[in-house]
Amino acid sequence: MNSDEILKKIENALNKAKVEFNEEITEKGLEEIYKNYLGKNSLLNNILRNISGYEPEIRKTVGMSVNNAKIQIEETYQNLKEQLKVKNSMLNRSLKIDMTLPGIKLKQFHTHPITAVLNDTVEFFTSMGFEVVEGPEIETTHYNFDALNIPDNHPARDIWDTFYLKNGLIPRTHTSSVQVRTMEAKKPPLRVIAPGRCYRYESVDATHLFMFNQVEGLFVDKNAKLSDLKGILEATVKRLLGAKKTRFRPAFYPFVEPGLDLDIECVFCHGKGCSVCKFSGWIEVIPCGMVHPKVFEYAGINPAEYKGFAFGMGFDRLVMLKYNVNDLRLLYSGNLDVLNQF
Ligand code: DAH
Repeated sequence: MNSDEILKKIENALNKAKVEFNEEITEKGLEEIYKNYLGKNSLLNNILRNISGYEPEIRKTVGMSVNNAKIQIEETYQNLKEQLKVKNSMLNRSLKIDMTLPGIKLKQFHTHPITAVLNDTVEFFTSMGFEVVEGPEIETTHYNFDALNIPDNHPARDIWDTFYLKNGLIPRTHTSSVQVRTMEAKKPPLRVIAPGRCYRYESVDATHLFMFNQVEGLFVDKNAKLSDLKGILEATVKRLLGAKKTRFRPAFYPFVEPGLDLDIECVFCHGKGCSVCKFSGWIEVIPCGMVHPKVFEYAGINPAEYKGFAFGMGFDRLVMLKYNVNDLRLLYSGNLDVLNQF
């Protein structure tokens, strides 16, 4: 065999090996081809083994050509092996994804239930032309009591278990303190709600905290009537709590005359009687009444000219009723396991 023939054979072997490699799709197949072309009994190794039989001048070119072919075959083999490995692992992974399973739920931030109901309340009242006003949480006894017809030394003051601060001010016991402040600041007619925190010296249990939320409402106009109060508050509990049946009962609050409590039929037992409604079938939700003439006088409004009604919703209670929460402390715990359920 002359050198040209040998070189031709080497080139053919290299080309054939490349074609075979590129057509192969299994790791085992690749190994087989590798063995055929670079194994002990392969053509290339046979040529090398017998190289001493060639003329010295062609040994060099043949040797170089074989080595070059071996390197190329080795590289092709290693590359394809690596590619196949990556492809297989991707395939394995995609087989492990069960497309029928529900996706992983992303955590989403949401408003606290109290804030959500408050936003809803504000939206409802503003849609009826009410405006949101605010008053200070640290209040004078004047606005919290005296101006609401609850004089010092009057037993009615005992209704509110009050914290007294050393400086003579108090954390307000109710948002009713905003009533006279608002009437002093704005000229009637008035339609306002005043949401905010209130504080009482209470022993803490499932339905009482020393801090709680109220939303006060005040409506003042020349011909405001009890029927206006009824209409607005009935619409309120219908909208906020889905209440179907309501009733008004007489009640005493020093700053209204007459004073009333609005009850809704128990949303849990539908009037049959259960532990939530203390087996009465009714739940008290909004204390209210017609603004007392004395309160108008304190605010500098002529009670002969103006009438009005007021109400104060214990707001946390509304949230408890709406979401069926039986312990108020849960709402304030900051426990995400609880809050994420809303
Ligand atoms: N401020 C009262 C309380 O916290 C609730 C209340 C009763 C508010 C009657 C009112 C009202 O505006 O008219 O006990």
